[in-house]
Amino acid sequence: MNDMTSTYRVELVDAAAAAGLSDDIIRIHNDVYSDSPFNRPSSGIDFGTAVLPLHLGRKEFTLATARDSNGEIVGYCYGYVGDHGQFWTDYVAERIHPSLEKAWLGDHLEIVELAVEKSARGKGVGRSLLTTLLDSRGDDRMALLTVAKNAPALDLYESLGFTSFGEFENFVLLGRRRS
Ligand SMILES: CC(C)(COP(=O)(O)OP(=O)(O)OC[C@H]1O[C@@H](n2cnc3c(N)ncnc32)[C@H](O)[C@@H]1OP(=O)(O)O)[C@@H](O)C(=O)NCCC(=O)NCCS
Repeated sequence: MNDMTSTYRVELVDAAAAAGLSDDIIRIHNDVYSDSPFNRPSSGIDFGTAVLPLHLGRKEFTLATARDSNGEIVGYCYGYVGDHGQFWTDYVAERIHPSLEKAWLGDHLEIVELAVEKSARGKGVGRSLLTTLLDSRGDDRMALLTVAKNAPALDLYESLGFTSFGEFENFVLLGRRRS
C-alpha cells in the first residue's frame, strides 16, 4: 500500500478558486493526456480554452489539488453533477443499454479527470486526490469512464468500490453507489 507522505498536500477547491488554478490544471492535463493511451472520448474542442471553462460552470464542480513541498501543483482530480444534454452523458448514453443509462446516468457525480504528473506517481497522490473528492460528496451514484487497458487507474477505482457497468470501444464505464 502506498504511503501518502507529508511531501504532498491535498486540498479541495470550489469552482471560483479553481478558475484561478486553470493554468496549472491545463499544464498537467496537456502533459498527462497528450502522450497518452488514456484519452477519453472528445468533443473535439480545446481543453484549456473551452472544455475546462465549461466544466467550471457545471453543477457542484469540485476540484482536489495536490501540491508538493514547494507548493507546486502536481496532480488534480475534478468532478461535477453531470446530466443529459451534456457531451459525456449523451455520448455514453448512446452506447449503453437504456436500462444502464437509467441506472447510472442523470444527476450523477461525474469524475471527469484524475491526473498526476509522472514524477509524483506511485506515492499515494492519486488515491488521496480521489478519496478527498469522494469523501466531500453526498451523491447517490458516481460514474466515470476510463480506458480498458489503463491498469493503474482501474486498480485504483476498483479498490475504492467502483465496479464496471458497461464497456464500449476500448473504454470501461465504472460506477459506485453511496454505501
Ligand atoms: C492513475 C493515476 C492518477 C494514479 O496516480 P498515482 O498517484 O500514481 O496513484 P497512487 O500512488 O495513489 O496509487 C493508488 C493506486 O493506484 C493503483 N496503481 C498506481 N500505480 C499503479 C501501477 N503502476 N500499476 C498498477 N496499479 C497502480 C494501485 O491500485 C494503487 O494502490 P495502492 O495505493 O494500494 O498502491 C496516475 O497513474 C495518472 O495520472 N495516470 C494518467 C492519467 C490517468 O490514467 N487518469 C485516470 C483515468 S482518466
